[in-house]
Amino acid sequence: MTVGPSRDTSARPVAGRTAYVLLHNTSEVVTLDAAGDRLLRYPRGAVVFRDGRVLEVGPGAELSRRHPDARPLNAGGKLVTPGLVDCHTHMIFAGHRAPEMQRRLAGEDYAAIAAAGGGIRATVAATTGEREDALEKNLANRLERWRANGCTSVEVKSGYGLLPRAELRLLDLMRAATLRVPVRVHRTALALHALPDEFRDRRGEYLDEWCERTLPEIRRRDLASAVDVFCDPVAFSVPECRRVLARARELGFALRLHAEQFERSGGAQLAAELGARSADHLECASEADWQALAASGTVGVLLPAAALTLGQKLPEAAILRRSGARWAIATDFNPGTAPAQSLLECAALAARLCGFNAEETLRSITWNAARALGAESEVGHLTPGAWGDAVGWECETLEELPYWLPAVRPDCVFMRGADLALPTVERRVWP
Ligand code: NIG
Ligand code: FE
Repeated sequence: MTVGPSRDTSARPVAGRTAYVLLHNTSEVVTLDAAGDRLLRYPRGAVVFRDGRVLEVGPGAELSRRHPDARPLNAGGKLVTPGLVDCHTHMIFAGHRAPEMQRRLAGEDYAAIAAAGGGIRATVAATTGEREDALEKNLANRLERWRANGCTSVEVKSGYGLLPRAELRLLDLMRAATLRVPVRVHRTALALHALPDEFRDRRGEYLDEWCERTLPEIRRRDLASAVDVFCDPVAFSVPECRRVLARARELGFALRLHAEQFERSGGAQLAAELGARSADHLECASEADWQALAASGTVGVLLPAAALTLGQKLPEAAILRRSGARWAIATDFNPGTAPAQSLLECAALAARLCGFNAEETLRSITWNAARALGAESEVGHLTPGAWGDAVGWECETLEELPYWLPAVRPDCVFMRGADLALPTVERRVWP
């Protein structure tokens, strides 16, 4: 399987791929336009899918008249939107860190727990010790859960291997899990997450290893389409990140960064300098950082679950609007800072904490999130030519999406214009 912005990343063939379908009787169809600028709202609208893609979107009565041969599918008077895009997850890992969260709630510091051998390294140990079939099955099940929550495109990062061979193992398993589920998966190699103990006091050699051997191998085997780094005083410095990302760019990878999470240290400016697709976290970013992201066309990705878990503030909508930057919202699903399994729930929280309106909220989990993955020409909207990935929700208006808690559930999820049965969360995708 291959991964890339212009290629279809859903590996498993989907039944009904060539069907000609009219999804009608909606309360409304809501989508961004193809450029991600304008919200299109069609009360009692319809969507026509053909050969897996959107053929037309518009008023239901008109589309029914013009497409008498399409197979009608009744949306049951519900809201229809594009499939959601979760553009930042770390969903390949073993175990959990619930006890660590108890320690943090009792006042211990995230960085102090990490320095004492907890944190990322604890998950690395659990993941490295886990059987491969269990990791693969676990990831496939998580992807199914995401789809059941309305996500049709999901980014997955490696990062809980640390040692180059352990990272390659995770990237291989990510590819294998992707073949099991009808979700579009974008694989990212999280090259610099934490320094493995084996390289203690040999930071330069760790970077050499990534630049000279590991990244070229990932490229050669097409194991990932993007490279990410954790740029922060608790992780890797700006010059260290610049070196690895510059090499990644030279090899043809898209770039993303964990930036300005614990301290403002220059990650956002580095993202802008290198033309990264996204700069993620940004809890400590300044207004100037957001302006730099706007100038370089880099998407700022907000991770409300991590901010909430670590007691940090999210930026105000007014600052983001003024900057002109595009922003996305993602789960950051990981066992340390964001055990968050519903993107829409994260968006509903961000809407409250930042002050986003319903249109901005939808854009940040569809078009803008697709842009963070370089996939905005194909997903994140329901305009002609896009993949027929859509969700019928158990509600009737756009404004209800960020409103209900727990988040609204999908009633049906379409991939390539085909209505796929939703798994129950208990369903196992392993044979
Ligand atoms: O995105 N910031 C770095 N990585 C993760 C946390 C990883 C962990 O604590 O296991 C994040 O928040
Ligand atoms: Fe993250």
